[in-house]
Amino acid sequence: MRELDWIKKAINDLALTAERDGEYWRASYTREDAAGAALLEKWLQEKSFQTRYDAAGNLYGRLEGSSKETFLIGSHRDTVRNGGKYDGALGILTGMEAVYSLLQEKGRPQRTVEIVAMCEEEASRFLTGYVGSRAIVGELSQKNLEELDDNGVSLMEALAESGYYRGVLPQKRDDIVGFLELHIEQGGLLEKEGREVGIVTSVVGILAGEIVFYGRQNHAGTTPMRLRCDPVPVAATLIQQLDCWAREKKDQITCTFGNVVVEPGKSNIIADRVTLTFDIRSGKGELLQEAEAKIREILEKDKTIKAEIRVACQDPPAAMDEEGISLLETLAEERNLSYLKMSSGAGHDSQIIAPKIKTNMIFVPSQGGISHSPLEYTDMDDVGQGYTLMKAYIEAVAWQR
Ligand code: GLV
Ligand code: MN
Ligand code: MN
Repeated sequence: MRELDWIKKAINDLALTAERDGEYWRASYTREDAAGAALLEKWLQEKSFQTRYDAAGNLYGRLEGSSKETFLIGSHRDTVRNGGKYDGALGILTGMEAVYSLLQEKGRPQRTVEIVAMCEEEASRFLTGYVGSRAIVGELSQKNLEELDDNGVSLMEALAESGYYRGVLPQKRDDIVGFLELHIEQGGLLEKEGREVGIVTSVVGILAGEIVFYGRQNHAGTTPMRLRCDPVPVAATLIQQLDCWAREKKDQITCTFGNVVVEPGKSNIIADRVTLTFDIRSGKGELLQEAEAKIREILEKDKTIKAEIRVACQDPPAAMDEEGISLLETLAEERNLSYLKMSSGAGHDSQIIAPKIKTNMIFVPSQGGISHSPLEYTDMDDVGQGYTLMKAYIEAVAWQR
């Protein structure tokens, strides 16, 4: 299929704009981000879309329909550090190509269609994440703008330096009637079950943030155990207890401490402080509340060390639109596509958008279930099945109504 040839080449060309010292990394509001956005904008314009950016840096490509009601399609353009080429990018590129080819085949749509390449979904620069989708639903707050990256640059400064933000937060989009995101599965279920596409029913909730444990920096050899104030064992106890608690919940919750920093980080110095990030996910909102209470309870128990917790992201599980799920099932069956209705363990912009706007997601298989890795790969035949379903869905909601 000619469309798949374009998508395959575009995935590789886009990835080249984020190659940094031999690894892929498109952190938001950086040179790599600007280069990726410029390439996406060029392709959108070549494919007849009118382009613009909003104050959060989201790039839109608009194709005017007979009605102003807008159907939105897309995903995020940022990547995790040392990530892969498909996470986020695939949903933007397949959406762009599907709409372009429908335009050629059927002329102007009934509904206006927009493609979006969203910013900072991955929390790879600002821990809160989902900056672009929060802006779309009007939930990017002043507090979000004040969040600092690892170099002390605030989100507001990063947005202003990139030329997106000029003192006014983006308005909530009231014209959008539906959103569709195609994404790689990032797990191995489709492959294991031998299904061609996933129709997503819900996206897990997430509780993420960081905890700082403050100690008293001192000499490792001369400070007796009874006189030291060492934050490292206290942080380790929290990690161990929470990990144990999460394991007892079987497969209902995940708990990850992905970044633990000990300062000053020398073998012969009792640490001054430990900073750790936590990322806790579950399909059950009440388990996330329980997890937060558990963290606070563990921290309360140890009075010897001062600890501060900062919750950066607290988003409940989100259900995808039922009508959209049924339509996707019907369209898949009509095309003899084998599908699996499944929930997503990964976070997506869709979960931020879904409580406000009817939202649906299509998954395509990830080879070996690997993602957030340079080994991330989806065969073009598999992309093709998801693309076929996506195109049929867009035709149904934007052209045939
Ligand atoms: C995003 O990919 C996430 O699930 O953290
Ligand atoms: Mn990701
Ligand atoms: Mn993603």
